[in-house]
Amino acid sequence: QKKLTIPDLRNRKNGTPIAEITAYDYPWAKAADAAGIDVVLVGDSLGMVVLGYPDTVSVTMEEMIHHTKAVVRGVERALVITDMPFGSYNSSIPAAINNATRILKEGRADAVKIEGGVTMAPTVAAIVNAGIPVQGHIGLTPQTATSLGGFKVQGKSAQAARQLLEDARALEEAGCFSIVLEAIPAPLAEHITREISIPTIGIGAGPGCDGQVLVIHDLVGMYDRFTPKFVKQYIKINGPVIEALAQYKAEVENRVFPTEAHSFSMKPEEMDKLLR
Ligand code: KIV
Ligand code: NA
Repeated sequence: QKKLTIPDLRNRKNGTPIAEITAYDYPWAKAADAAGIDVVLVGDSLGMVVLGYPDTVSVTMEEMIHHTKAVVRGVERALVITDMPFGSYNSSIPAAINNATRILKEGRADAVKIEGGVTMAPTVAAIVNAGIPVQGHIGLTPQTATSLGGFKVQGKSAQAARQLLEDARALEEAGCFSIVLEAIPAPLAEHITREISIPTIGIGAGPGCDGQVLVIHDLVGMYDRFTPKFVKQYIKINGPVIEALAQYKAEVENRVFPTEAHSFSMKPEEMDKLLR
């Protein structure tokens, strides 16, 4: 399996749409790669769907690097992008470069993702100039959702939409190789997609983007705290997993499991010697 490259992804602008999915560990990354997924994102959604935090703000660099390492070991073909966690790129440009460098050097990710538009563009440009590919992320940006008025659709007014177009252009100018558009109206996402030369990856941004991304635990039905309207649940594994665990518990209690088939034997004479 030949590893995808950043130019491969850029070239998909007017080609086959890009399929991106999150993963946070080895088995799920391996499953995504086996399915032919193009981009595996180690999202800071890690904090919510895997670590059980109420939001993404408390996720640390150490946690992102730790999980990135596991994902990278599971992937052969897909590009691996890791979210820069809140606080790792907003204090200063040198700190942002250092942290982005750590994600590539220690985590072995192929690229980083950063939330923010026009105001983050200088930081994005500095990271790109340091040799680190950056995926942008605008619209609903969970790290700053409180300032945006919660988890709601962005860019619904002409004025807000114009700002998002400017954000997209600033990120393109800064050197991003693609941009995630989260929770914005479909017509606006389609317009932004036409106006910039790099691929747009939508999540709650309609079918007019150059690709799509979803959180894997939403897709497989393994996160039940809340499910946004834009999620499509392709399978619900939570129920069958709980059923299997309950059956295991009952079989342990009733001595139905394990049977001889799951056990190791010993020569009877050895057992006799032991008991003599
Ligand atoms: O953290 C994440 O999973 C993300 C995607 C939903 C785009 O940022
Ligand atoms: Na994220």
